[in-house]
Amino acid sequence: MNPLTDLLQSRLTQGPVPAAEVMALGLYHPEQGYYRRLEGPWGFDGKDYYTALDLGPLLGQTLALRLEAAWECLGRPARFTALEPGAGRGWLGRDLLKAVTGPFAEALVYVHRDDNPAAKQAAEIALAPFLSQNRARFCEQGDPLEPFTGCVFSNELFDALPAQPWRWDGENWTREMLTASGPDWQVADPGEAGVWFVSQSDGLENRDGSVWCEALPGLVHELAAPLEAGLFLAVDYGEAADRLLAKGADLRRFKAHSVDGLWHEDLGEADLTADVDFTRLAHLLEGEGLTGLAHQELSRWVRTHAPLDQWGAQWMSLPDPERRARTENLLQLTLPNMMGSRFRVLEGWKERGG
Ligand SMILES: C[S@@+](CC[C@H](N)C(=O)[O-])C[C@H]1O[C@@H](n2cnc3c(N)ncnc32)[C@H](O)[C@@H]1O
Repeated sequence: MNPLTDLLQSRLTQGPVPAAEVMALGLYHPEQGYYRRLEGPWGFDGKDYYTALDLGPLLGQTLALRLEAAWECLGRPARFTALEPGAGRGWLGRDLLKAVTGPFAEALVYVHRDDNPAAKQAAEIALAPFLSQNRARFCEQGDPLEPFTGCVFSNELFDALPAQPWRWDGENWTREMLTASGPDWQVADPGEAGVWFVSQSDGLENRDGSVWCEALPGLVHELAAPLEAGLFLAVDYGEAADRLLAKGADLRRFKAHSVDGLWHEDLGEADLTADVDFTRLAHLLEGEGLTGLAHQELSRWVRTHAPLDQWGAQWMSLPDPERRARTENLLQLTLPNMMGSRFRVLEGWKERGG
């Protein structure tokens, strides 16, 4: 018997449980949570889902150019710290560190921040050459962050935070709960979430709704406050607040590369994700002193920052399997309806003293 199912059953004897609490239990229970297990969920074979990093180094290579441009804007500081919260296996950091060259490579220090034990084990291997050269290091999620200049970047961090689905039923706000007989939408006071949703809509219609991530302000503050100057960049699955409301955002379960809405099943054995409300993320970052906040499709961001024609010409000289893998990586991140159009990139800038 799944120990989290047992725990949930006993919790249900006291009454319905909000979906966000079920998500928190499934992902972050200290021993049995999906992101606290010792075996990693990522990749293709026998795993539950893959991220942009499984497709190849293109995201890291593009990030390297974007961060180098940020370093230039900052006046080429001697130390440029790139903090990655939710860094998982450290593959994006590895691809970034592999791609940088020259004086920027000397200035860059990559910091991996993620308490996921399976991911950390994998990151120790992926980052080994850079750890031994002091170009990469780990920090614990609870460790206070010293002020730094550089960048905070993440890939699929914010969609992994517990979130609560809310829906407008024409008269009241309802929230998704788990009851002893299954999921149910129950009338409740949405508090701050309701104020936000109303402020983001031209007029709510029956079944409009969105997700509310309670932990978002705290995490945004924890990450943005120590950034003295530089770039905040988040790659994630989500939309602007008004589009989420119109779509009726919900929680999704990823298991063995298929996706469904059964967020309450196989707790601890399946990934759970929620759309990111990019308008709220930008709003919170503005409150932390960031400016120029905007988000765009990942495909457009890649096309803006990567010299794809030049790279394409270079790939021509690679052996066939590698050339095909690079091309596939490019297509996945740039073609319509593929990963690059499902993900968005949010950027904001912190001026020194801002
Ligand atoms: C969907 S995974 C993404 C991992 C990696 N970025 C990738 O793309 O493969 C989300 C990760 O965020 C981590 N995470 C969740 N909350 C976090 C927090 N407050 N600080 C740092 N990491 C966090 C989880 O442990 C998990 O490893």
